[in-house]
Amino acid sequence: MSELVPQPRTADDPAGAAPAETVPLLELAGVRAGYGAIEVLHGVDLALRPGSLLALLGPNGGGKSTTMRVCAGLHPVSGGELRFAGRKVNGISAQDAARLGVCSIPEGRGIFPNLTVRENLWAATGTGARLEDLEEKAYARFPVLGERRRQLAGSLSGGEQQMLALSRALGTDPAVLLLDELSMGLAPMIVTRMYETVTELVAGGLSVLVAEQFARAVLPIADTAALMLHGRVVAAGPPGEIEDRLSSDYLGG
Ligand SMILES: Nc1ncnc2c1ncn2[C@@H]1O[C@H](COP(=O)(O)OP(=O)(O)OP(=O)(O)O)[C@@H](O)[C@H]1O
Ligand SMILES: [Mg+2]
Repeated sequence: MSELVPQPRTADDPAGAAPAETVPLLELAGVRAGYGAIEVLHGVDLALRPGSLLALLGPNGGGKSTTMRVCAGLHPVSGGELRFAGRKVNGISAQDAARLGVCSIPEGRGIFPNLTVRENLWAATGTGARLEDLEEKAYARFPVLGERRRQLAGSLSGGEQQMLALSRALGTDPAVLLLDELSMGLAPMIVTRMYETVTELVAGGLSVLVAEQFARAVLPIADTAALMLHGRVVAAGPPGEIEDRLSSDYLGG
């Protein structure tokens, strides 16, 4: 079990008045970040509630992937606060974020193309998971991966690669899963299948932040949606409300 479970606040903490379940597992408050001298996140506010799915939507270059990397400890913040379970963790390393239970699948899936399916799963055992357990879970969830356990990951179809990426991420038994563009390059049927799996995981208590250009894929299953434009979250709320705010340009239909 990961450490990233909201703890009741102490008596001298005024925020302790709120029940623990209302403390977001992952929160960005006025977060600023950039590349070199160029700021691309200009004060991002975002809150992921425990056991929920938050969809971060918006067009190219809005800052979704940068936000995801900040959440994973892969990119430094230059202002504002990054919080895990109510604790400020600015400057956290990717290893420490992983130790807290934050796991990410980057844009492009982050698998090793020259390793087999099995070797890719093995590479996820660094956090203490056992290869046998990882394989058992992965092949039970996605039988096609079992059939292809000795195949090089680079020669899998896009959907199979995404299944492998998801299996690797889940092997670490994360509390928070960060998914960047799950639908990228996949057939609509595969996207639906992947999001069905995500829905099951959320029902099982996992908290998920999904960045998607293609809102249609994720809006139906999201608990909350946020619209990101030019490095700011300009609207956040129930998916239905956000859908109304999305212009047809952003729907990606
Ligand atoms: N490594 C980098 N170096 C410099 N600028 C970068 C880098 N990565 C991203 N940017 C810039 O930061 C801004 C936000 O990019 P980001 O990748 O976070 O957006 P995005 O919302 O994920 O876009 P997309 O929908 O295309 O994936 C863009 O203007 C981009 O050009
Ligand atoms: Mg992106």
